[in-house]
Amino acid sequence: MAEVKTLLVGLLALCLVNSCFCNSWDAYIDNLIAQSKDTSGVEHVDKASIFGLDTSRWTSVNGDKVLEISSTEVNTIATAFRSSDFNSFMSDGVNVSGVKYQFLKVEDDKTVYAKKKDHGGIVMMASKTAVVIAHYPEGKQSGNAVKAVGVIAEYLESLNM
Ligand SMILES: *[C@@H]1O[C@H](CO)[C@@H](O)[C@H](O)[C@H]1NC(C)=O
Repeated sequence: MAEVKTLLVGLLALCLVNSCFCNSWDAYIDNLIAQSKDTSGVEHVDKASIFGLDTSRWTSVNGDKVLEISSTEVNTIATAFRSSDFNSFMSDGVNVSGVKYQFLKVEDDKTVYAKKKDHGGIVMMASKTAVVIAHYPEGKQSGNAVKAVGVIAEYLESLNM
């Protein structure tokens, strides 16, 4: 955990020094995926993304390990977290990358789980100003995904972000 923090502090410093709220955040995607490893070293997250509760994009919009989310999808998700009202997820599902995942549960008004048969699932966690979202492929574990998402979201929260 200490190593993780050191790494994250380094990455954040890099972002701030470059005063670049664009691609530097993509390093957090790699970090998140690495955090999703189980004891055998298997990664449980294949794609992730971070965006602001104000709908601003923190990570790149597309790329190899980027969970691509349309503006409409970002809007819906950010609105739900801002208002802590997840009824639209319950009634209409959670749309990510054009896939409609079935809402499973929300914990503490900040962690949302959704899945779709043969498409794996989605875990998202809000910090004070952002949403960290990850996809786990079919057959992988949401528990490892939420652990990984939590490391990043709680780190942002500790920085008041
Ligand atoms: C997801 O997309 C479907 C159409 O594909 C739409 O009916 C539904 O309302 C959307 N869900 C949310 C939460 O926006």
